[in-house]
Formats: sequence, structure tokens, C-alpha cells
Amino acid sequence: MASRRDRTVTERVFSGFRVTGEQHIGNYLGAIRNYVDLQADYDCIYCAVDVHSLTTLEDARQVGENSLTSATVMLAAGVDPERSIIFVQSHVPEVMELAEYFAMLTPLAVLTRVPTFKEKVRQQPENVNLGLVGYPALMAADILLYRASVVPIGVDQEPHLEFAREIARKFNGRFGETFPEPRSVHTTTPLVRGLDGQSKMSKSMGNHIPIGASPAETRRLVMTAVTDPQRQRRTDPGRPELCNVYSLHEIFSPAHVKHVYRQCTTAGWGCVDCKSLLADSINGAFAEFRERCAELAADPDRVRAILRDGAARASAIARETMAEVRARMGLLAG
Ligand code: TRP
Repeated sequence: MASRRDRTVTERVFSGFRVTGEQHIGNYLGAIRNYVDLQADYDCIYCAVDVHSLTTLEDARQVGENSLTSATVMLAAGVDPERSIIFVQSHVPEVMELAEYFAMLTPLAVLTRVPTFKEKVRQQPENVNLGLVGYPALMAADILLYRASVVPIGVDQEPHLEFAREIARKFNGRFGETFPEPRSVHTTTPLVRGLDGQSKMSKSMGNHIPIGASPAETRRLVMTAVTDPQRQRRTDPGRPELCNVYSLHEIFSPAHVKHVYRQCTTAGWGCVDCKSLLADSINGAFAEFRERCAELAADPDRVRAILRDGAARASAIARETMAEVRARMGLLAG
């Protein structure tokens, strides 16, 4: 395999997340941290995905505020607006035009088979809107409008990426080579389980630690974490391999895991001691991030200016792609 440095043309990365509210530490480890690392090797575009959020958002009035928060999180995590483009999806409306053209190339039966669509139908049967069905077409448009070839996503998004590849192939086959077929990259971070120790950490499950939680709030939440159910008394030895608190230590306390393992399996300490160290580790890991978040939150005009600049740079790419798309499709030039 050629090393990254051998490449003459830098590939483009595109990713984003829906602005449904507070991000949590699972999102950070699963996605945002990866965004930051990818900047070393790729031209990156990161997006606060507001339009997609409207497919499920109950109170759409929050969406603007949420976009600002999402951008703040990305910037505080280390997305560098000098090097990468960071923008809000709706600020480059060409994406909706491209999604509409893709809609014409997509049989409805393909969209209704997408797993995330079926899940949403179960979750919100009273609100199965057209946007929900068309979600993958808009996501494909996000990626292909910027001709990105690398897309960092969680595994749950893989069917959407497969759809994007299919639509790129179909468009290219019908109208001539226009889009690269994007590939996904996944983080190496193992799945982060929630405080219930059962399912993936997620806001909708209420088992999450918000990325912006204060140190005291983080500690309070960590103290509620479910541990090895067999360890009922302080003197019972625990089984770290079954304990979610231990798996969080593996992520956040790399220097202490051996000690944690020993203390747990020998009942050298109790779960409260173990959790207390975990709270320290998480708070340590996010201290700098939280400081930068607070600085940015105090200066929303600066974040807005960064987003305006990002939208201008993204628009330039979008306009070029759309001129080519319209011409290839045979639409009459205006
Ligand atoms: N569907 C993605 C999610 O829920 C968000 C998203 C929208 C996205 N457009 C994208 C991710 C383009 C990567 C690329 O997480």
C-alpha cells in the first residue's frame, strides 16, 4: 500500500453530525477525535448537519442554537478552521438541489429498505415524513457535492455510505464520470457503552456523559455507573472484564489500568474508589477541551465568523460541482 505521503493529490474528507443537542463523550471518541487527526493527511470539510436534524427534531426552534454548539465542540476539540472547512449544512443550499436530482435516480423501495429508516418508522410512527425517506439521498449529496472520497463515520452509518456509493456509480454510469465513490473510515476506539453498562452510549438512552458536563456533574454521573453485578459487598472481588467502569478506565486511564485491575480483582478497593479515579481521569482528559469550549461560548460572534468563512469556501466548491452536474444532466443553462 502506498504511504499517505506518496500521494500527489490530497484526498478530501467530509463528515458531520446531526445537531440534535448535546454531544457526549462517546461521540467525541467515536467521531470528533478522528476529525481532528484526519486533518494531518487530508483536506477536511466538517459540517454541522442541521437540515437532516429536522427529520426528527421536535422543537425546530433549537436548531440554530444547536448548530452553533456543534461548531463550538468541533473547534474546541481541535478542528482548525485555517486548515479545514467547518460550516453549517443549510448555509450551502446547493446540497438540497443535488439531493433532489439524486431522488430522481432512486427507487422508493431502496430507501424504505434502509435500516435507519425502518428504525425511525418504529420510533416515530406519527412522523414518517418525506425528509426521513430521503435522508440517504441528502447525505449522499453532502458527500458528493464536495467530491469527498473519505468519510469518517460510525458503523451504524455504513448503509448510508453504501447508498452514496451506489448513487455515485449510477450517476457516473448515466451521465459520465463526475463523482468519486466514497469510502468510510472507522475509529479504532471500541464502542463506548453507556452508564447502564448495557447499550451504546447515547443521548436518547439517557446513559451518557455530556461532553460539556462540569467536573462535578461528570463525577455525579460516573457514580451512577453500573458495575459488575456480582460485586455486591465491598469485600467481594470484581470481574473487570465484565465491568463497564473498567472498560472506561481502559480508554481514559491508560496509565492506571493495571492498578485498577488489581484493586478490583483483589477487592483492594471498592467500586466507589474505582469510579472516583475514573471521574478524575475523564475530567483530566476533557479539561483543556472544556476550557476552550467556554472561551468559544463566550465569543459566539467569532464562531459565527468562522462558520461564514467556512460556508463561503464550501459554496465555491458546491457551485463548481453543480454547474458540472446540471450540464451533464442536460439541463438548459440559465
Ligand atoms: N447521518 C449522519 C449521522 O447521523 C450525519 C451525516 C449527515 C453525515 N450527512 C453526512 C455523516 C455526511 C457523514 C457524511 O451521524
